[in-house]
Amino acid sequence: MEIKDVFGYAEELMTEVEAFSTEKKEELEQFRIAFLGTKGKVKDLFSNFKAVSNDRKKEFGQLANKVKQTAEAKFKLLKELVDEQTTQTETVPDLTLPVNAKLGSRHPIAIVRNKMIDIFARIGFTVAYGPEIDDDWHNFTALNTPPNHPARDMQDTFYIDRATDPYILLRTHTSSVQTRYMQKNKPPIRIIAPGRVFRNETISARAHCQFHQVEGLYIDENVSLADLRQTLLYFAQEMFGKNTKIRLRPSYFPFTEPSAEMDISCFICNQEGCAVCKKTGWVEILGCGMVDPEVLENCGIDSKKYTGFAFGMGVERTAMLKYRLNDIRLLFENDVRFLQQFEAAL
Ligand code: PHE
Repeated sequence: MEIKDVFGYAEELMTEVEAFSTEKKEELEQFRIAFLGTKGKVKDLFSNFKAVSNDRKKEFGQLANKVKQTAEAKFKLLKELVDEQTTQTETVPDLTLPVNAKLGSRHPIAIVRNKMIDIFARIGFTVAYGPEIDDDWHNFTALNTPPNHPARDMQDTFYIDRATDPYILLRTHTSSVQTRYMQKNKPPIRIIAPGRVFRNETISARAHCQFHQVEGLYIDENVSLADLRQTLLYFAQEMFGKNTKIRLRPSYFPFTEPSAEMDISCFICNQEGCAVCKKTGWVEILGCGMVDPEVLENCGIDSKKYTGFAFGMGVERTAMLKYRLNDIRLLFENDVRFLQQFEAAL
């Protein structure tokens, strides 16, 4: 190409670039390929550099660079406009599309917990909550479990801070809500406290380091063991069926005296004997007892005037029995294939 032509070519490209405009994505892409692509006109223009005489090389270089920059700037500007336009059109919802009407379902733990709350609400219990991160006074000491008490070994605890007094820990049971509630409220007290608890256990099919409990507390004048039994019988029959029988077995908890474990008649085999009840006809469901007077006093309640009962049960355990689950981990993995099976159980 003649020198004159080379300069002319550059001018020509410049006019072409300046004149170009489009609103279409495809046309803009063609422009990019034609001008800025590896075999494009700008590259071609630069390849004429050697044909230019030394004294005009600088001038040509500047001109060629200007063409290149103008083409790049034009591309950038148009791309922004085109992109904006496409996102605008893409975000307009298509109202004619069929609705994907798949509703979520409640988690089995929530279903069982809500049912428990519901049953007790009908006989005058209100819901109370306490913190998951608590101190060892509310979780242990006030519940008759002072430091070094062997009962602290019953629950391997996740301690958060042992440099403080009291220690900070993840509550090991919802009984900590009992102490908090009693400190702040005067009898009559009738609460149930659902919540998550933590224990330093190895995770297996039967045990997890986190699970849920529902705690019950009833304090008033003249509350007796008979009241406890009758309340729990009502609960068991509402929860597991009208023909459910219960039995209380003597047990031990530091904060109740006397203490008991409640079994229900096995609703899976109708007490014929099966794997779930280990052929005994009975399944353990909760711990309970009469609140130890010492605990009432620790929380500022006159133990000469008032008596009360408390109970605590595992939500996972009940869910596993109700839905015949053989692995507690299913309840924490949130696999949709598992969760979807509870859609009808709302
Ligand atoms: N907190 C006890 C546990 O976690 C259960 C319980 C609650 C027992 C209330 C008696 C009274 O095992």
